[in-house]
Amino acid sequence: MYRDLAFDPYDDSLDESELGDYDFDDYSLSDPDFRDLDFDDYSLDEPDVFLDVPFVPTDEKVVQAMLDLAEVTSKDLLYDLGCGDGRIVVAAALDRNARGIGIDMDPMRVAEAMEYAGNTGVEFMVDFFEDDLLEADFSQATVVTLYLLDLVNVELRPRLLNELRPGTRIVSHAFDMADWRPDERKSFSGINLFKWIVPAQVAGAWQWQASDGDTYKVELEQKFQRIKGKAWVNGKKAQLNNALLSGDLLELLVQKDAENSPISFIMRCEENQLVAADGDFQATPAVKIKDTI
Ligand SMILES: C[S@@+](CC[C@H](N)C(=O)[O-])C[C@H]1O[C@@H](n2cnc3c(N)ncnc32)[C@H](O)[C@@H]1O
Repeated sequence: MYRDLAFDPYDDSLDESELGDYDFDDYSLSDPDFRDLDFDDYSLDEPDVFLDVPFVPTDEKVVQAMLDLAEVTSKDLLYDLGCGDGRIVVAAALDRNARGIGIDMDPMRVAEAMEYAGNTGVEFMVDFFEDDLLEADFSQATVVTLYLLDLVNVELRPRLLNELRPGTRIVSHAFDMADWRPDERKSFSGINLFKWIVPAQVAGAWQWQASDGDTYKVELEQKFQRIKGKAWVNGKKAQLNNALLSGDLLELLVQKDAENSPISFIMRCEENQLVAADGDFQATPAVKIKDTI
């Protein structure tokens, strides 16, 4: 299981300058569409149903920017968690030919979304369910869209990390995911959009054989998509110059010693192995020899 660490062992290495003029303020208060809402009352007519977020629709231009950022194609199954009137799911079907599922706790929104899908002729590509987004099954998604609140994103986070397949893209309108830093962010007409790629879980010790007969070993620590660690070649300490994880693809740059150039291994995480994904320098899949280091 993915552990949701309360501390960040990598903060020292984080280069804040890469964040540019990005604003870390509390978006729940700064998002213009949310600013004037009464945050104490999202209740529906049904007395026992309380929404975690009020209905505020995403502007159609922002919807397109979210689909662009998520790189939605006809191969995708998009889930909008808290789908409102269904506009993101319908736009993904209409404009990107993608299948989609919308989940909303408010029965009125689900009815509106179904009607909208019918009116636009995409009802055969989409579905809408009345459910609690914190409990619904979204594990089959290849893209997840969110327009919730920071706190709801963070509550959802362990499920996004544990239940979605590595490589699934998550795009959030306006709201962040605390210390799970986005893989990409964009500002669109003053609105922040965030993208995360669900990382494979690669922490632990791994060993493999290179085509020249050398035995490589790495010990990797992981926090979300960020990796650091140590390397050995034939039992002797080597240099792990770089470790990059994107979805299920891991790139390790290992330097045996000062006389040799660093070698890049690009591996795909499959089951409990790291299989060579590029180049012919890796002779055997990397196997896990220890879960924790
Ligand atoms: C800010 S709106 C976003 C609507 C739509 N995704 C969009 O971007 O246009 C949030 C939606 O989440 C729904 N919602 C709030 N809490 C929910 C919960 N626990 N489960 C499912 N839906 C919820 C609300 O009814 C509302 O439609």
